[in-house]
Amino acid sequence: MAPTVKFDFAGADAFVSEKHIQHYKERAEHGCGLICVEATAVTPGGRFGRNHMGLWSDEFIEGHAQIAKVCHDAGAPVIIQLNHAGRDSAPDLGEQIAPSAVPTRDENVLAEGDPVEITKH
Ligand SMILES: Cc1cc2nc3c(=O)[nH]c(=O)nc-3n(C[C@H](O)[C@H](O)[C@H](O)COP(=O)(O)O)c2cc1C
Repeated sequence: MAPTVKFDFAGADAFVSEKHIQHYKERAEHGCGLICVEATAVTPGGRFGRNHMGLWSDEFIEGHAQIAKVCHDAGAPVIIQLNHAGRDSAPDLGEQIAPSAVPTRDENVLAEGDPVEITKH
């Protein structure tokens, strides 16, 4: 199962919620061979928004351990995608930190010379 972030599942505190646990449990019970838990922020300021799940201190371990447990109980191994949103981190969460000054282009805007076609939804 590819990582697919569930922005509306975490509260503003970024903790794992009961919805997350149910979501991953159901996927494990329905036969996913390997589950990659969604992009999970490594710093508060690296979140896409306030409701983006995090893992930047020991307080978060319990929730993530519950996700791992329900998946393991259903026979699915679990990994996690650690993430920092960089230039795309929410501006209201503090200074945006990115590897370069290159701005993020608007989502779904195809720039000249782009190697791929982007489908508008
Ligand atoms: C709602 C949604 C959330 C996603 N969240 C993540 C994510 O957290 N991390 C990531 O690397 N990709 C994320 N993706 C991309 C998917 O994991 C996947 O790579 C993409 O949908 C292409 O897969 P496909 O070719 O099977 O459609 C997300 C995609 C969707 C539609």
